[in-house]
Amino acid sequence: RPIYVLNGPNLNLLGVYGTTTLADIEEAVRARAAAGGWDVEFHQSNHEGVLVDRIQEARTEGAAIVINPAAFTHYSIAIHDALEAAELPVVEVHLSNVHRREAFRHTSYVSLQADVVIAGAGAFGYEMAVEHLLRTLEG
Ligand code: DQA
Repeated sequence: RPIYVLNGPNLNLLGVYGTTTLADIEEAVRARAAAGGWDVEFHQSNHEGVLVDRIQEARTEGAAIVINPAAFTHYSIAIHDALEAAELPVVEVHLSNVHRREAFRHTSYVSLQADVVIAGAGAFGYEMAVEHLLRTLEG
């Protein structure tokens, strides 16, 4: 059973301003998942439909999902519906504490379908998400 780690729009720009890149996050996540014997499918897309496709793929594979939908968090009913249809374990991750930011970031359509929500822990939030899955699921 693989872990799908899905990243939404603009997350490919991580590292342009800060120091941690998405590649760094991928490496850390892979290391932690491998220690528990899990494979990782790591993706980033700027396109809503591509993320929906990946969620459907995860559904077919019976995977677990770690998702940072980025801006789509706050308005994508399509991603909400794909997660609902998938009926898989879902951990929602945000690098920043979205609740300390603009009001439009306080709503998450994805949280309605998430078992766990992690926000504000930076890149480490992804590792926390994988750790949660390793503790609660069998590989
Ligand atoms: C984000 C928070 C979102 O509000 C924002 O649009 C992002 C990144 C985060 O990881 O903190 O792109 O998901």
